Amino acid sequence: MIASTSHISIDGDRLLDRIDQLSRIGADPRGGVTREAWGDADVEARDLVARWMAAADLRPTVDPAANLVGRSPGHGDRWLATGSHLDTVVQAGPLDGTYGVLAALEVASSLHDAGHHMQHGLLVAAFANEEGARGTSGMTGSYACVGHTEEAPPDEVDDAGVTVGERILAAGGDPDRLREARWDPDAIDAFVELHIEQGPVLHANGTSIGVVSAITGRQALDLSITGVANHAGTTPMDLRHDALAAAADVVLAVESLPGPGSVRVATCGHLLVGPNVRNVVPGRVEMGIELRDEDPETLAAGTRRLIERIDAVAARRGVAMDRRLGQMVPPVTSDPRIVDAARAVCERTGTSWELLPSGAGHDAQVIGRMLAVGMIFVPSIGGISHSPRERTDAHHLVAGAEVLLRTLLELDEVLSATVPPSSVGDPGFR
Ligand code: GLV
Ligand code: MN
Ligand code: MN
Repeated sequence: MIASTSHISIDGDRLLDRIDQLSRIGADPRGGVTREAWGDADVEARDLVARWMAAADLRPTVDPAANLVGRSPGHGDRWLATGSHLDTVVQAGPLDGTYGVLAALEVASSLHDAGHHMQHGLLVAAFANEEGARGTSGMTGSYACVGHTEEAPPDEVDDAGVTVGERILAAGGDPDRLREARWDPDAIDAFVELHIEQGPVLHANGTSIGVVSAITGRQALDLSITGVANHAGTTPMDLRHDALAAAADVVLAVESLPGPGSVRVATCGHLLVGPNVRNVVPGRVEMGIELRDEDPETLAAGTRRLIERIDAVAARRGVAMDRRLGQMVPPVTSDPRIVDAARAVCERTGTSWELLPSGAGHDAQVIGRMLAVGMIFVPSIGGISHSPRERTDAHHLVAGAEVLLRTLLELDEVLSATVPPSSVGDPGFR
């Protein structure tokens, strides 16, 4: 018999207070929060969350990728997973990633306070380097959890000349044992990530909850441009091989790529100029470019078209372009059972909701390469994110955590009924 769960509820004040506490770790004097992966502030945030996990009876561990993973066993041998990331972009808001981790922790704390154990064990993860700190590819922690460490390799060198492996080691992980971070897909029935929408749809429509249908794909492209550094006063304009002017052409080629029949969005957000001196014609530029679309074919075709344009710029400007395809995070579709569970919870609790795709990337899409995944969104005021101005109304933050709790309870029932009890497994982190 399944125990009633109607009396279990999240503690909204505790959740909001914890969000507030974390927003002060890595507070950036220029505004917002800067908690780049594996840096001091990131590790401080992770350690604080680990202490809160321990108090909620989630036994916290730091895995070889420096992910924080807490787990609380259930009555049975199978698991439900939830969580997000604690690392941020430079000058981020307080919610991207952090909200999903703290709401997941709040679910565990509420179950613990109520003395309720689900059939499933509850696994709460704070994945390492979702954002791609210091020019790196990102999603390092979630890729390790699905055993695809080659997609976010430890020998990748960041903007400071430090390898990802060295960063992981400094943050308490072990880059030589990344494979051991892999979860066992046979033991975990679903992964559900709660996140702010980071786009304008829910706020504009006045909807409280977004149930995510699919998550967009993302192709990264790195470019090194080598021209000729020379004297800015003496080098005639027609004899220059200006790497930055070539980069400007590439930026415009990237910007003009999206449109009907092409990729949805394309961005060049990362640029390093050498020698970066006012009176020297730039000789070298490093660029980080990314294209996003829901359709892998469109993404591939857009990437080919951009490469043709880049090569044309190189020929016209007389510069060398070394281009390297970077991380490709494929699009993923939400598991219908998770969509149905979240929808049913919203209907039952009278919470307004709508189905929408995610234009942002998330750990859930990496975990989706191995497990059934789904996501729940809450509105972002004005659709602003990756900015110090990122905000969500408190009542939406609390409502989202409540929907996460009830969705996991619903899945606990639904999936306990459909998964044969003989198919037991180990979540892969004991
Ligand atoms: C994740 O933050 C992304 O870039 O979509
Ligand atoms: Mn982000
Ligand atoms: Mn995020």
